Amino acid sequence: MNMSPKCYVTCGKGGVGKTVCACALGLALASRGHRTLVISTDVVSPIGDIFQVNAKSRPVEVAHNLQVLDLTREDIINLWKIRFGQEVYEVLSSFLPVEKDIVDYIANAPGIDELFAIYYIYDLARSGKYDIIVWDTAPGAGTLHLLRLLKIFYTHLIEAESVYGKLLNFLMKARSLVDSLKRKEPRDPISLIKKWRSLIEEIELFLKNETEFILITTPEKLSITICKNIKKELESFGIKVRKLVINQVVKELSEEIIRRKYESMLKTMRVIYSELPEVEVRVEIPALEHDICTVDDVRRLVPYVSRLVD
Ligand SMILES: Nc1ncnc2c1ncn2[C@@H]1O[C@H](COP(=O)(O)OP(=O)(O)OP(=O)(O)O)[C@@H](O)[C@H]1O
Ligand SMILES: [Mg+2]
Repeated sequence: MNMSPKCYVTCGKGGVGKTVCACALGLALASRGHRTLVISTDVVSPIGDIFQVNAKSRPVEVAHNLQVLDLTREDIINLWKIRFGQEVYEVLSSFLPVEKDIVDYIANAPGIDELFAIYYIYDLARSGKYDIIVWDTAPGAGTLHLLRLLKIFYTHLIEAESVYGKLLNFLMKARSLVDSLKRKEPRDPISLIKKWRSLIEEIELFLKNETEFILITTPEKLSITICKNIKKELESFGIKVRKLVINQVVKELSEEIIRRKYESMLKTMRVIYSELPEVEVRVEIPALEHDICTVDDVRRLVPYVSRLVD
């Protein structure tokens, strides 16, 4: 990375602490004087929960220099429609007899919202409103899915350009269609397709040069394996991963810490039972003394889960 990052992305297995790390990083950056936004594109609204504000759909200031935003799927789709809906309609309607509602149809296609999330973050970073954006992504390999989509979309645009070129040639020969094209006065679709392509190229550069991916793991085999996979795949997109957080590390063998953890757990257990009173079968599985790596470890849980099917 040549320049100081404009965006940090926390990624890793579900539940390892991506959201808490993103929020903590937001606080750290803000306290250094950077105008910071912590944004989540997860389906739930995790960041507002942590700061105890309703940050759904609009940024909320939670500290000096720090805003937080929980973006929902609907927000992303609506923003996509505002930004790209008209252009997509112009391209499609220039050679297909489609109505405006084609835009809604496309907006709800799987992947469009995720793909647009990247554009949205990129656009925010370019807007000048914030110095740094911290992006808390969905669990697992959510980010990688976005990158794959970006690549697929890019490839399709290259194809679209050549297919459209041929199609236009063909249409030119059919005068009546040409007349109908003229009536609609479309914007030149090839130039729009080219514009989308160069936008994707810019977003790729942004991810490679101005974005820092931070792997978050706990000291457990599965979350480390997932981190390694994420790293490998990010590298296959030409993105270098240079930062790693190992969260939930027990730093010392202290009875006092264990006792306080135990008390905190008991308190939470009471909350769980009082908040889910109507549940009939309750099973408690003890934490093993190490993480679960083998089928023998899993076997130790069988007596407990058996109660679910008795
Ligand atoms: N260092 C820590 N000490 C104690 N508890 C922690 C620590 N880090 C995270 N937690 C707890 O772990 C849980 C998961 O954290 P968090 O929601 O940040 O994970 P996540 O990776 O964002 O999860 P998801 O994949 O579901 O989005 C939370 O309940 C949080 O309170
Ligand atoms: Mg989270």
